[in-house]
Amino acid sequence: MTFVVADNCIRCKYMDCVEVCPVDCFREGPNMLVIDPDECIDCNLCVPECPADAIFEEDDLPEDQKHFIALNAELAKKWPTISVKKPAPEDADDWKNTPDKLQYLER
Ligand code: SF4
Ligand code: F3S
Repeated sequence: MTFVVADNCIRCKYMDCVEVCPVDCFREGPNMLVIDPDECIDCNLCVPECPADAIFEEDDLPEDQKHFIALNAELAKKWPTISVKKPAPEDADDWKNTPDKLQYLER
């Protein structure tokens, strides 16, 4: 089992999740974070912290976002660890409820 960062993180990247993770399992890309499934201890602390509601327990992911399980696993191997919160993008709030943001993902 693991927790997964899904579509609504893209271009929002608020990073409040980073502050609470006890095992530093968030990985940082240019405009999204992912969770390393090999490190996540399923503590659930990050879920209520995300202003974009972008984090799900694996089994709770909406059907149309199941592909984020594989994407988190793949990108967690490429991206560096982030353990300290940075400022969110200035236009993060503008993207908060935009659907289907995968097309904007920068790797
Ligand atoms: Fe980190 Fe816990 Fe969230 Fe997993 S569920 S990413 S261990 S805060
Ligand atoms: Fe993304 Fe939410 Fe964290 S927008 S960076 S999962 S606080």
